[in-house]
Amino acid sequence: MSVLESFSLEGETAVVTGAAQGLGKEMAIGLTEMGADVAIADVNASKASKTAEDIDGETNVIAVEVDVTDETSVEAMIEEVTDRLGPVDVLVNNAGIVENSPAEETSIESWRRVVAVNLDGVFLCAKHVGQQMLERGEGRIVNVSSMSGFDVNVPQKQASYNTTKAGVSMLTKSLAVEWADRGIRVNAIAPGYMRTTLVDEVLEENPEMEETWLENTPIGRLGRPEELRELVVYLASDASSYMTGSTVVMDGGYTSR
Ligand SMILES: NC(=O)c1ccc[n+]([C@@H]2O[C@H](COP(=O)([O-])OP(=O)(O)OC[C@H]3O[C@@H](n4cnc5c(N)ncnc54)[C@H](O)[C@@H]3O)[C@@H](O)[C@H]2O)c1
Repeated sequence: MSVLESFSLEGETAVVTGAAQGLGKEMAIGLTEMGADVAIADVNASKASKTAEDIDGETNVIAVEVDVTDETSVEAMIEEVTDRLGPVDVLVNNAGIVENSPAEETSIESWRRVVAVNLDGVFLCAKHVGQQMLERGEGRIVNVSSMSGFDVNVPQKQASYNTTKAGVSMLTKSLAVEWADRGIRVNAIAPGYMRTTLVDEVLEENPEMEETWLENTPIGRLGRPEELRELVVYLASDASSYMTGSTVVMDGGYTSR
């Protein structure tokens, strides 16, 4: 197989959670460019439909509503994707939220919301897509962690987010080891600051934070969401065939300082 062929996703089915906007949308575009049919699986059904229409490629792109925190909803989403596009070859667990507040003031409801989306959601999607992949003896899962799972980035206070993202990387390793001899590879991406709605909302409340972020980012700028396209294709394809359990950091050097 040539290097170029190893990156191909021709004829494959991919699900990207939280792909109605932001990093998920960009990763969905990358997967379609390499030939995959893609399901934009998001809790925001109307935005997911618009995004599916906007992605102008040669392959099928569909929108499917899902709340990743709800096991019944996850099962229904996978069933719908399988019916419409075929069994899932690639799962990108991207849906995630952040809530900023000092730990001593964080309500248990807020803590649980972040854990539910960022950690339960990744587990539930991996569990149910994993069952299907195990039956077929093949599949690739890419989880979206964060540099916040390795470093406590400042000045924002987000203990729940940081903790869940560290959990995503450990869950990635655990699933990778459990399923390595059954044809499934599980890896993760840990982005640094990428300019999306999630980041814009933090900056709207605290615009002065951007200066601190840039000072701490050796490359000297925030990431562009589309810079994740190639990395997700690499991890989703045969190009990374000997790689499992890894979290690949893409953060402009933030965690290398
Ligand atoms: N933007 C960054 O700088 C950055 C950095 C590191 C990691 N990340 C991670 O990347 C992922 C995507 O972030 P983003 O910046 O694109 O965020 P975003 O807020 O722009 O998009 C998140 C998407 O997830 C969807 N979503 C939220 N809750 C959901 C649920 N319960 N079920 C299904 N979908 C749900 C939202 O509707 C939205 O479309 C997240 O996991 C985030 O933690 C982002």
